[in-house]
Amino acid sequence: MIEFQALADKYDTPLYLYDFNHLAQQYTRLKEAFRARKSLICYAVKANSNLSVIKHFANLGAGCDCVSIGEVKRALYAGVPNYKIIFSGVGKRDEEIKEALEKDILLINVESEAELNRVEIQAAELNKQARISIRVNPNIDPQTHPYISTGLHENKFGVDLDTAKRLYIFAKNSDFLDPVGIHFHIGSQLTQLEPIKEASAIVADLVRSLQTLDIDIKFFDVGGGLGIRYDDETLIEPYDYAQAILSTLTGLDVTIMCEPGRFLTANSGYFLTRVLYEKTNGDKRFVIVDGGMNDLIRPSLYNAYHKIEIIGKAEDEETSECDVVGPVCESGDFFAKNIRLPLTRHNDLLVIHSAGAYCATMSSNYNTRGRVAEVAVEDGKDRLIRRRESFEDMIALEKDYLKD
Ligand code: LLP
Repeated sequence: MIEFQALADKYDTPLYLYDFNHLAQQYTRLKEAFRARKSLICYAVKANSNLSVIKHFANLGAGCDCVSIGEVKRALYAGVPNYKIIFSGVGKRDEEIKEALEKDILLINVESEAELNRVEIQAAELNKQARISIRVNPNIDPQTHPYISTGLHENKFGVDLDTAKRLYIFAKNSDFLDPVGIHFHIGSQLTQLEPIKEASAIVADLVRSLQTLDIDIKFFDVGGGLGIRYDDETLIEPYDYAQAILSTLTGLDVTIMCEPGRFLTANSGYFLTRVLYEKTNGDKRFVIVDGGMNDLIRPSLYNAYHKIEIIGKAEDEETSECDVVGPVCESGDFFAKNIRLPLTRHNDLLVIHSAGAYCATMSSNYNTRGRVAEVAVEDGKDRLIRRRESFEDMIALEKDYLKD
């Protein structure tokens, strides 16, 4: 039981809370599911990049999937060993590639022919061999929200099968490239097993055909994407997920890698916000809270559902329909529309659930609102893992450039 009220009183609102015991449980569930094989779970840092969250996973043995050199450095700073870090992403600057090579991370995941050429040039300059994987786009519909679908040719990610094969041959013949991995990721918040299995089978076949060309793939990276329950979604069990993937790999001696973000963190996180006041415009009721879309943008951006709970109200209290909105100057600044809540008072506490993934990381300073504090709860104890941003923090990068 997390003491929401006491923690809101102690740390003030708006606030992110993360249940570190739950983070560990999720990691262990997934790791156990793959126990029949060598596996490396590379936590997708973009979901929640707080250093303490990354360190928590590192302590459990996880690696990290990063999409910028900034994320790579975060992972290293938090104690993830370089040989467990992979660097993905559809566009990488030369400097980022170079730094990744210097830091000798496990794999650079390449998403196009042009990128492969840039990696080769950088590696040659450093007189190194770049360990790479190639992201294959298997053209599979993951049956998820179009904004987070990535495995179709119409999406910008990866290369098609024929191009992948050609790039592997090119890499094998290069002195500066070492093609040891293969990668796919078809989308996020996946709740159907079949598309993953289909994609895995297609990519496994490619690995077999590469073997006949003497190209030996050691790391089979199935990306992230495992869905979680925001509302009443039916979920893929980690065991079934692992079995579906393993069933496509007969005869292949590969280490399985996966890159979960949401599955590991989403339901460990809570966003706490207090009611400022209520108002009605005509018949329309609004509950105005102190958190806004700059703190948690998923409802505004994807129309995403996040369960909202009011603390300290009796279950049988009379409710009426309302929108829960923030103070930001946008009509899109809402956490929920047309939900039923009891009448609220100034300072009532609302808990927004499933806020551990893509919430704090997607926050901004819009409207010069400081990023909120983050707190870890573990074994009944709480600790600050990011302090609240101050006004001074927000102007720090500009104030020295003011002209008369
Ligand atoms: N690997 C790659 C290559 C990815 O692109 C992603 C997510 C992941 C792993 C982690 O996926 P996960 O296990 O978390 O589903 N902002 C959106 C989600 C964007 C996901 C982008 N890529 C949201 O709030 O729903």
